Amino acid sequence: MKKLIDLLAEEMQAAFEKAGYDASYGRVSVSNRPDLCEYQCNGAMAGAKAYKKAPIMIANDVVAQLQESHVFSQVDAVNPGFINLRVKEEFLADYLKEMAADEHLGVTQAEQPKTIMIDYGGPNVAKPLHVGHLRSAIIGESLKRLGRFMGHKVIGDVHLGDWGLQMGLIITELRHRQPDLVYFQEDYEGEYPTEAPFTISELEEIYPAASAKSKEDEAYKEEAMEATHRLQQGDAGYMALWNHILNVSVTDLKKNYEKLNVTFDLWKKESDAQPYIPDMVQYLKDEGYAHLDQGALVVDVKEETDTKEIPPCMILKSDGASLYNTTDLATIVERMKLFHPDEIIYVVDKRQELYFTQVFRCARKAKLVDEDTGLFFLGFGTMNGKDGKPFKTRQGGVMRLETLIGEINDEMYKKIVENRSVKSEDAQKTAQTVGLAAIKYGDLSNQATKDYVFDVDRFTSFEGDTGPYILYTIVRIKSILNRYVEVGGDLAACSMSGASNESEKSLMLELGKFAGMIENAYEEKAPHKICAYIYDVANAFNHFYHETKILGEEDEYKKQSWIALLAFAQRVLETAIDILGFSAPDKM
Ligand code: ARG
Repeated sequence: MKKLIDLLAEEMQAAFEKAGYDASYGRVSVSNRPDLCEYQCNGAMAGAKAYKKAPIMIANDVVAQLQESHVFSQVDAVNPGFINLRVKEEFLADYLKEMAADEHLGVTQAEQPKTIMIDYGGPNVAKPLHVGHLRSAIIGESLKRLGRFMGHKVIGDVHLGDWGLQMGLIITELRHRQPDLVYFQEDYEGEYPTEAPFTISELEEIYPAASAKSKEDEAYKEEAMEATHRLQQGDAGYMALWNHILNVSVTDLKKNYEKLNVTFDLWKKESDAQPYIPDMVQYLKDEGYAHLDQGALVVDVKEETDTKEIPPCMILKSDGASLYNTTDLATIVERMKLFHPDEIIYVVDKRQELYFTQVFRCARKAKLVDEDTGLFFLGFGTMNGKDGKPFKTRQGGVMRLETLIGEINDEMYKKIVENRSVKSEDAQKTAQTVGLAAIKYGDLSNQATKDYVFDVDRFTSFEGDTGPYILYTIVRIKSILNRYVEVGGDLAACSMSGASNESEKSLMLELGKFAGMIENAYEEKAPHKICAYIYDVANAFNHFYHETKILGEEDEYKKQSWIALLAFAQRVLETAIDILGFSAPDKM
């Protein structure tokens, strides 16, 4: 289905042509003076030079062609040569009806769907999720949904960190605490227990304890490094422990991601890429991409146009150990082999930007990816507290994700109970739904690359540019529609017709922009554009609502048209928030 703005442009292009000018001047944009017009065309200004004519003369010629237009209700040439446009109500209503009849609300589905892998979440085994993981999860999830809405095949991969020193640290600490466990017996040959020798809360205490010790005690650190090495060599007892750590952790991670309404298609791990390393290293050597530098194996990735120094990508350390880079490159090899993606998008803290520049360049240079495989780094900024410093607990520690979600939900619960529109037994559940919207919208409404301030008071407010405000608007629409049905109205019999007042028209115009907005948000990997859009729609709806007595309207035809418009607005809003990864309750 064509986008509204393209249909408007087609009408303008035809008019330019009929008036004897080149059709390409008939470009249309949303008006930057909404008080004067809805859309505008600046083609006459652009054409003045080519035709050696005053722009206003061209504008007048074009306007003369549009007197009978079925698309525009008003077309004005204004000095020095702008063309101001208003869309015909019937045309707009027809467009919205066509959108409503389309499963994707007028968004054209990709003709050649791409396979897109999104690497997001990035939690580390045995470490609890903290606020630093929030952004990756929220942004990645919405990009995944956005890609799918456009008709692409999108695969979300959590890319679990399970292969580093943290594993050796945990094993070492366990060894100190419980040296008698069978996992540590050299000559043990029996089956290892199926039950893990720790719970998730023990695990979450063990890791920080071990990490702290290793910072003070050199010998302890050596031991942990040795344990990591032994694990990576495949020691049976250590592997069995590692499996326990993994299982206990993943169960807990899944539970937490579920609370965020975030799901992954793949629960791949760094360790899954390890089998690809030996062949990859051999290949890099054989093909001459890698060379030794002070004992380490590196690939040069600097380019002539670089304005800052891009260090070589290190593949193996001088002791032969692999690194974070090695794993990421091997993961690329694995992904190409198993999924052959057209694009891989990494949603990771922007402080890892240089690192990913090295990895991508190395992958390209060494042809680990096809020439036309896109590698994208979407680096996000830091989530700060009100003091402008990275978000912390009141005690100054790293805040666990669970704690943050809990705090927001408590705050929402208080507000919802105050409102008294929800039965108290439902209030808890509603608080979770609205709380999630508060968190996600608060995050996604900012451009991903920028830092932002996580402000609990602002994010949970029912007013302003917030998740709860958007949900409140949807709930308001739902309640009007419910009342309409309660008094015997039939939603299916309602159909949109032309606008009868300015605020209704504004709402219709906003709704008509949906497809263009979605395409743009997808191309720019910019969920914040969806937030900005639904905020505009919500404002337009509330404006209309305050000016119009909808259910009290006597003219049945008008009333039905409004009801249809409301149902449609609800659908547009709910589709958009679903792409953002949250939903609306029935009441709040
Ligand atoms: N686990 C990593 C960290 O905590 C993030 C992983 C990002 N993804 C990747 N392919 N490197 O920093």
